[in-house]
Amino acid sequence: MDDILRGKKILLGVCGSIAAYKVAQLARDLTLAGAQVDVIMTEAATRFVGAATFQALTGRRVLGDIWALPEDGVIGHITLGAQADLVVVAPATANRIAKIAAGMSDDLLTMTILATHAPVLLAPAMNPQMYAAVATAANVAVLRARGYTVLEPDEGRMAEHVVGKGRMPEPPVLEGEIRALLGRNGPLAGRHVVITAGGTQEPIDPVRYIGNHSSGQMGYALAARARDLGARVTLISGPTMLTPPAVVALVRVGTATEMQAALSEALVGADMLIMNAAVADFRPAEMSEQKIKKSGDAGLTLHLVPNPDIIAGLAGRRDIFKVGFAAETDDMLANAQGKLERKGLDMIVANDAVLSIGQPEIALTLVDRGGVTNLPRQPKNAAAAALLDEIVTRFQRWRV
Ligand code: C5P
Repeated sequence: MDDILRGKKILLGVCGSIAAYKVAQLARDLTLAGAQVDVIMTEAATRFVGAATFQALTGRRVLGDIWALPEDGVIGHITLGAQADLVVVAPATANRIAKIAAGMSDDLLTMTILATHAPVLLAPAMNPQMYAAVATAANVAVLRARGYTVLEPDEGRMAEHVVGKGRMPEPPVLEGEIRALLGRNGPLAGRHVVITAGGTQEPIDPVRYIGNHSSGQMGYALAARARDLGARVTLISGPTMLTPPAVVALVRVGTATEMQAALSEALVGADMLIMNAAVADFRPAEMSEQKIKKSGDAGLTLHLVPNPDIIAGLAGRRDIFKVGFAAETDDMLANAQGKLERKGLDMIVANDAVLSIGQPEIALTLVDRGGVTNLPRQPKNAAAAALLDEIVTRFQRWRV
């Protein structure tokens, strides 16, 4: 399956707030991912960013003047709204939110919103006191009741140096919200998918731990793709440097025991588990309260005890489609097949540990009771998307 943004028609309404400059990045990212982005600027927006910026980034004429006659003679505000897959208003000012809530239509953006059946996403950005105002809160409530998605602004330092809640969410967050809305009727719509990612860390003393090289990249990319296909996603992650995908519920854990506890909570009512985490097989029997000191040339012996095999412990959960991973250094296929049976999985994804750890690309071998499928070596993001599509096909078959 293609990127969810490919070929989608997105109307991007830009209003008069300093956050407008950040939306240039969003327009670029959406366009690069294959969307057709038509920007409507309000009069006030043009005081902050030039139309030429958006025109250059989207490759399309920026719209704004209702009196500019369209080349094909069709009245713009009706066609624009009717053809759009999604309308995004970012940044959405207090004034604009009030106008839309009141159903006004005094410029191209408000007219277009009145005339569209597409979902509408608004990203408020304004002074914190204006956002907290009773009138704004009431208008936001009206829009939400109407089915519009109105994001919560971020807290932090505003352009005018006050600190509070009123910042527009960053472009990657907006992109995640856009993807979730476009994917809302996708093959995983209504499903709760739980994904584990990254490596666990088992403390030796307050400053040291036993860990592994897992970057978490694959699990995070799987979570983003599952969101794009309509799932509600919970990502249970060991410590990583990665930014979690927007709209995905993130639960951070440290040890295998913590991951097991987080999973048992997340799996209540879940449809699928993708167990991508590199769980440490052993942990120190005891964690030293103090930092362990060197004593001359003497070595150190750590006593390790086994961690629970988390996914094997879920063998009784027949109501969940379970996908495991097997990073192997030898006998990949035989080992993967053994784990599929021993751990009671519906599917296992094998890869060559040496060729993939710390590498940007990965080749995957998918094993289930129907046979073996090979996915070619490709960048990890693309591999994750292709893998998730294979998982979805098997999940749909498993359900019937
Ligand atoms: O046995 P091995 O560690 O190779 O199995 C890998 C699969 O089992 C992965 O899906 C991994 O997340 C899961 N696993 C687990 N609990 C452990 C070890 C591995 O759930 N203690």
